[in-house]
Amino acid sequence: MAKVIDDIERVLVDETEILTAVKRIASEIDAYYRDSTASGKKLLLLGILKGSVVFMGDLMKHITVPVEIDFMKVSSYGRSTKSSGSVNIMLDLFRSDLPQTDILIIEDIIDSGRTLSYLTEYLLLKGAHSVRTCTLLDKPQRREVDFKADHVGIIIPDEFVVGYGLDYAERYRTLPYIGILKPEIYNSSNKY
Ligand code: IMP
Ligand code: MG
Repeated sequence: MAKVIDDIERVLVDETEILTAVKRIASEIDAYYRDSTASGKKLLLLGILKGSVVFMGDLMKHITVPVEIDFMKVSSYGRSTKSSGSVNIMLDLFRSDLPQTDILIIEDIIDSGRTLSYLTEYLLLKGAHSVRTCTLLDKPQRREVDFKADHVGIIIPDEFVVGYGLDYAERYRTLPYIGILKPEIYNSSNKY
């Protein structure tokens, strides 16, 4: 644990701020979907593995409308801190009731915007009744495609962050806060 903390330049979002954002998003979701779940549509929280698991786990505890949960896995950055620009589906979603399902994609962070814009289109083509998006963190300065999430937790500056599910090379996911990673941790060949 001490080693991990040594790698963090500073805490950007602490546990209290995260919880406040999670509760606010949960009440936005309750308000938005109250009528559709009451009229027989299913609401599916679709977590994008692996970064969203901690956020999803906390968020679902605070949502009061009935929800189902599922997961998809898409290609990640690997050891790099820069997006490859293309999205590969590693674990797909298979359900026969998509026309009766409202999907809310749950992401850890929006960076270029490619993952969420691609997945939204993909799930609509697969026949979902509706597709909306929710992200804990948003880095609008990094956008490469024009995309806005429907529910946003915290807008952050253009820094590479880890913790609360987010990783660098599969590390730091278990930190309870969001921290800025020290730049010297990055491999010199794939600078952020
Ligand atoms: P996008 O498709 O470029 O918007 O990338 C979104 C994905 O990139 C997220 O789901 C994260 O897995 C990853 N990502 C983007 N920025 C960061 C960061 O600062 N720390 C860790 N992962 C990040
Ligand atoms: Mg991710």
